[in-house]
Amino acid sequence: MILAGRRVILGVAGGIAAYKAAEIAGTLVKQGVEVRVIMTRAAQEFITPLTLQTITSHEVASDMFTPRSGGVAHIEAARWGEAFLIAPATANIIGKMAAGIGDDLLSTIVLAFDRPVLVCPAMNVTMYKNPVVQRNIQALSALGYYFIEPGSGRLACGEEGPGRLAPTAEIVARLESILGGSGDLGGLKMLITAGPTREPLDSVRYISNRSSGKMGYAVAKAAAERGADVVLVSGPVALSPPDGVNVVFVETAQEMHLAVNRHFEWCDVVVKAAAVADYRVQAQPGKIKKGATPLTLTLEPNPDILRDLGERKGRRVIIGFAAETEQLETRAVEKARNKGADLIVANDVTRPGAGFDVDTNIAVFAYPDGRTVPLPLMTKSALAHRILDQVLDLREDGADNG
Ligand code: CTP
Repeated sequence: MILAGRRVILGVAGGIAAYKAAEIAGTLVKQGVEVRVIMTRAAQEFITPLTLQTITSHEVASDMFTPRSGGVAHIEAARWGEAFLIAPATANIIGKMAAGIGDDLLSTIVLAFDRPVLVCPAMNVTMYKNPVVQRNIQALSALGYYFIEPGSGRLACGEEGPGRLAPTAEIVARLESILGGSGDLGGLKMLITAGPTREPLDSVRYISNRSSGKMGYAVAKAAAERGADVVLVSGPVALSPPDGVNVVFVETAQEMHLAVNRHFEWCDVVVKAAAVADYRVQAQPGKIKKGATPLTLTLEPNPDILRDLGERKGRRVIIGFAAETEQLETRAVEKARNKGADLIVANDVTRPGAGFDVDTNIAVFAYPDGRTVPLPLMTKSALAHRILDQVLDLREDGADNG
């Protein structure tokens, strides 16, 4: 049982489907999941805390201000849970989440929670289709929140259409894939590069670029969480290595090339998020002395690691990145073709919210067949998951152009 022993917070918001929380909690408990329930006040109009307390063998919390010994309720709950399941999620809680409002225990825990949140909307069809609600769902999805679409059918209000809470089996299956022991990338061997390279000028100085490594680290973290075996070849960055990832630190492009080559035979997938310096300096031993005349540095080209791998890719999936300042789509498609990549994740580094050292990105997926798919602004973590979804699709398609 994939979920046995995992810790899930079940948030129950106030809609008629709240009574179904009993079935969800019961199914999870049967699978060996430890479930703690947080209810809104409105939810208690539809189902009693006693029901959920009895099913989960844990006291149900709903009040921010109940005096208690020990720590702060919402922070403790947020630290305890490995995943936060909100079922049912009303338009109200979704709106509060999208706006960053914490005015009761449930919404405050959401704000304090930094692990996967799975939201299961259930509401009247017109409410669900309301553009404001749809906008909130899209905004939250872009930030990395998971959603299960409601089912269609006759709703409690008598209307027909989407709005029914998704079936328990579907919710549990989704939770398994999010939290899963093996995960949907289980067994996949992934080689990921991240960060800048440093090219020495002499024994003291170097040239480099503004890459922070955040994108590559986000892909490595997400891949490990989804069960992949990950080797991360990293240039110098100020980030902590993600849990469960084997990190190989390198400095120069040539060192990165060597480290990547060492793991290439082993891997099934390559994600080259590193900003590799295109040139290296003909380095001089010792320290260059200053003088009154201009100093000329001679740069020689570095190997293009991605292209080199693309030429001998075999059945591997190869994903590259492209930082552009103009003609984003056209250049990204060209790069995919020239470098033998199955996908290029391109971003216009001049746009606010994209590029260096920020936590978000605005990317376009570009494929060698000329297709391009623009994505909205999202966190690098959410983009990492989208890229990993592509890995699965590309493997199904049997990526093989070499
Ligand atoms: N890349 C690489 N080796 C290099 C240069 C780039 O492996 N020597 C990889 C990067 O890791 C990235 C992709 O190629 O996945 C695209 O990098 P980018 O700098 O956008 O493209 P370049 O090929 O360097 O082209 P240009 O700078 O001319 O746009």
